[in-house]
Amino acid sequence: MTRKLFIKTYGCQMNAYDSARMADVMAPHGYALVDEAEGADMVVLNTCHIREKAAEKVYSELGRLRVMKQERAAQGETLIVAVAGCVAQAEGEEMIRRADAVDIVVGPQVYHRLPEMVAKLGQTRKALDTEFPAIDKFDALPDTKRVEGPTAFLTVQEGCDKFCTFCVVPYTRGAEYSRSVAQIEAEARHLVGLGVREITLLGQNVNAYHGLGEDGAAVGLGVLIERLARIDGLKRLRYTTSHPRDMSDELIAAHGCEEKLMPFLHLPVQSGSDGVLEAMNRGHTADDYRRLVARIRAARSDVALSSDFIVGFPGESDADFEATMTLVREIGFAQSFSFKYSSRPGTPAAAAHKQIPEDVKADRLARLQALLTEHEHANLRACIGREFEVLFEKPGRYDGQLIGRSPYLQPVHVQARGYKVGDFARVRVVQAMPHSLRAELVSEAATAAEAVA
Ligand code: SAH
Ligand code: SF4
Ligand code: F3S
Repeated sequence: MTRKLFIKTYGCQMNAYDSARMADVMAPHGYALVDEAEGADMVVLNTCHIREKAAEKVYSELGRLRVMKQERAAQGETLIVAVAGCVAQAEGEEMIRRADAVDIVVGPQVYHRLPEMVAKLGQTRKALDTEFPAIDKFDALPDTKRVEGPTAFLTVQEGCDKFCTFCVVPYTRGAEYSRSVAQIEAEARHLVGLGVREITLLGQNVNAYHGLGEDGAAVGLGVLIERLARIDGLKRLRYTTSHPRDMSDELIAAHGCEEKLMPFLHLPVQSGSDGVLEAMNRGHTADDYRRLVARIRAARSDVALSSDFIVGFPGESDADFEATMTLVREIGFAQSFSFKYSSRPGTPAAAAHKQIPEDVKADRLARLQALLTEHEHANLRACIGREFEVLFEKPGRYDGQLIGRSPYLQPVHVQARGYKVGDFARVRVVQAMPHSLRAELVSEAATAAEAVA
């Protein structure tokens, strides 16, 4: 009998990857993925603990699931509720005790054991597993069964040893760990065999990657990219999230010479103030970041940069905040994410004096976001008239329209009759929209004529 599995994903791309893998783990046990909780036999919430709001969402969702579970029970049916991800890791034990609706709590390092936990539910009322086991979860995972479209995520590195003072990741995901080159290459080839054309390599600190090569020596992300770029049929590579301290010469050089490596780099800086950066334990100054960006742009002049920012970190003064605004004006990010500092239990910054009042945080965030939006628009407008290749990822809203991504990760809407999802096309940008571009196909004849001229 096929059972219905619904997985709701919160948080970062690594959670998106894990959700897909959980579906792969459950598939051989008769669970088929569905896209709504209504009518499902099992619901997994794959949770995020990074900010208070993210964690709170889980508890309100659990409230809804409790009602749904009771309704199902009244009809003699069972609904299994599992909580996975970073909230599971951080608050699992309490959740098992307190949240009625929860049957299973499974941490990010042990979700390959999900089928056993489900099977055990017959004997025990609840199951909890938040270990960091010595054996490699990746060895226990089955091959990917299904991909969605021509792009895919591939986790190459997990965990973090950096301990920024605001961040829960080192606690929820554990110590830094890199998968072997052979294991990653096999997964990449498998994905390409399923029709994937673009792979985004993932890690909480992806550029700290130091996986073992066949000769037993550790290699860095630059070398890994070079290896994967040799796979026929794989056309594009990206990676995220990188840390400024781990941008090696080799990786920067790869941006200059590896054509399949796309010219987009998410390189979070968090703040433009040296005092704040130090209090955050980021391990670099604002000028270190400026110099790094200059080196990256020297290797690949058109690279589009993106960043994460935190405003209202404990002790952040007006001058500190202005230093962030100055840095943003200087660098000109193509896109960015910005957040109000959220105090997280167990992190050093949560205990710091001089927490910033909510209204100051809100005001700074609004100002920063207005500036970032201005830069994003300027960047999109600067693309008008330019030509590049897009990879079509999904159908658009209108008949014959497809939506793809530019090399710079911008969504591009194209009227592209005769093309399908998974195709590449050369396009010319005709319009900039708030967060995306509109482009027209460049006919092959026109491209050839220009090449001659
Ligand atoms: N490893 C990445 C970031 C992972 S978390 C890096 O070091 O850059 C993603 C983003 O969430 C961070 O870059 C940061 O901007 C934000 N973030 C993390 N903890 C936060 C907190 N306590 N409050 C607000 N934002 C936070
Ligand atoms: Fe968190 Fe810092 Fe590690 Fe990024 S580098 S995951 S912000 S502790
Ligand atoms: Fe959130 Fe965990 Fe990712 S806390 S951002 S889901 S690593």
